[in-house]
Amino acid sequence: MEAVILAAGKSTRIKSQTNKILHKICNKPIIFYVLKELEHYKTHIVVNNDTYETIKNMFKDSSVYIQKDQKGTGDALKVALPFIQEESFVVVNGDTPLIKKEDIEAAYGVFKLKELDCLILTAKLDNPEGYGRIVRNEDKVEIVEEKDASDEIKKITEINSGIYIFKTDFVKNAIVKIMNNNRSGEYYLTDIVKLTKKTDVLEVDKENVLGVNTRKDLSVVRKMIQQNIIDKFDNVTFIDPDSAYINYDVEIGQDSIIFPNVSLRGNTKIGKGCIIDSGCVIESSIIKDNVHIKPYSVIEESRIEKNAQIGPFAHLRPFSDIRENVRVGNFVEVKKSVLGKGTKASHLTYIGDAELGEDVNVGCGTITCNYDGYRKNKTIIGDRVFIGSDVQLVAPVEVEHDALIAAGTTVTKKVEAYSLALSRVPQVNKKDWVKKYREKMERKLNKNKE
Ligand code: UD1
Ligand code: CA
Repeated sequence: MEAVILAAGKSTRIKSQTNKILHKICNKPIIFYVLKELEHYKTHIVVNNDTYETIKNMFKDSSVYIQKDQKGTGDALKVALPFIQEESFVVVNGDTPLIKKEDIEAAYGVFKLKELDCLILTAKLDNPEGYGRIVRNEDKVEIVEEKDASDEIKKITEINSGIYIFKTDFVKNAIVKIMNNNRSGEYYLTDIVKLTKKTDVLEVDKENVLGVNTRKDLSVVRKMIQQNIIDKFDNVTFIDPDSAYINYDVEIGQDSIIFPNVSLRGNTKIGKGCIIDSGCVIESSIIKDNVHIKPYSVIEESRIEKNAQIGPFAHLRPFSDIRENVRVGNFVEVKKSVLGKGTKASHLTYIGDAELGEDVNVGCGTITCNYDGYRKNKTIIGDRVFIGSDVQLVAPVEVEHDALIAAGTTVTKKVEAYSLALSRVPQVNKKDWVKKYREKMERKLNKNKE
């Protein structure tokens, strides 16, 4: 079976540098959703000069053609028509991402049974504004565009979905008869339906036909696609599905709980029994079972093993490799680093370009000084190392297993296993120093007043 996707329009109503068919919904362009429902069809896509390269690279199995001047949907179909080989074919507008293959299959059945030249998929909308209306005249069906409609016709709620099944011979003869004597001066494909008595309609669910012309349409359709994606996760709890932003390619395991205002982006994979708490943004990351991501954490291109706890307010930048049972606490930033099993960095720390072994304790305020103005240098920390608070590790540097770094130390050279590293200035306490200081200062001030 063959299908033509009309996607060459200039899409002026969306007021964008990007053609509307390439605007993304849940990280996939609008036209992707159309093609997905046509995956068993031989597909012909009509595009314009600007989108040709992108669409050709995106859909390698489709034939892609250019409509040079945007003279209307009738003219667009003309471009693909010479390449149609089957007796009948489907036409779909490229801006209707909610279409369902079941509707098209049903339409094919009716089309064959009734031996039609043309079958239009229609729907009854509460607000039909902007769509072509289905008008029945004596023995013919006609589509009247909004711009050309009388007030009487505008009241009709049955609309043209932009999906049609056509008999190839009929279209090849009739398409040349379409004129552009209408309000837009365009060749409307919709004018073809009145050129045969063998036109009929099939009404489908109104949810499946919405088109995207404006940013408002985009947001309405986005919500519906998002809901469809969320509905597929029937073993996951969404505390508030309306505020969950889950991309098309995301996977989530059984019994995970997604709190409000979570964004799961790219091809993020979440394991079973995870809790993703409010406000987290997770981009293209792999999270294994029973991980708890606490509120407002940002995780990018990272991997988190079983039973780890991250956040609140943690930032895992790309290539963070967080092993089992690790704890990364609030205001901790990790970049391109490994945190071995059971390691803890509970507060206010930067770990970059580092390899931390197992069961390391990273004290509050620890910083790997990984950048010397030219290169990124590595910090290597062995198993069971204890790092006290406010330690700077000036990379490249290594701390061997079971060493202890005293609080406040600046580590600039290798620390051997089981050693204590300490780089503090010895503490001096001066008795009653404050009293004398204050007396001196007050005497000075009084003198000045005199
Ligand atoms: C079209 C239908 C309307 C229907 C609605 C359903 C026509 C004349 N009208 O209106 O009856 O209710 O879809 O969503 O067909 N395109 C081209 N080349 C062009 C112009 C458009 O390829 O020269 C493509 C567009 O990229 C788009 C599709 O055809 O994907 C429909 O065009 P659009 O301008 O969105 O038509 P509507 O006004 O929505
Ligand atoms: Ca449209």
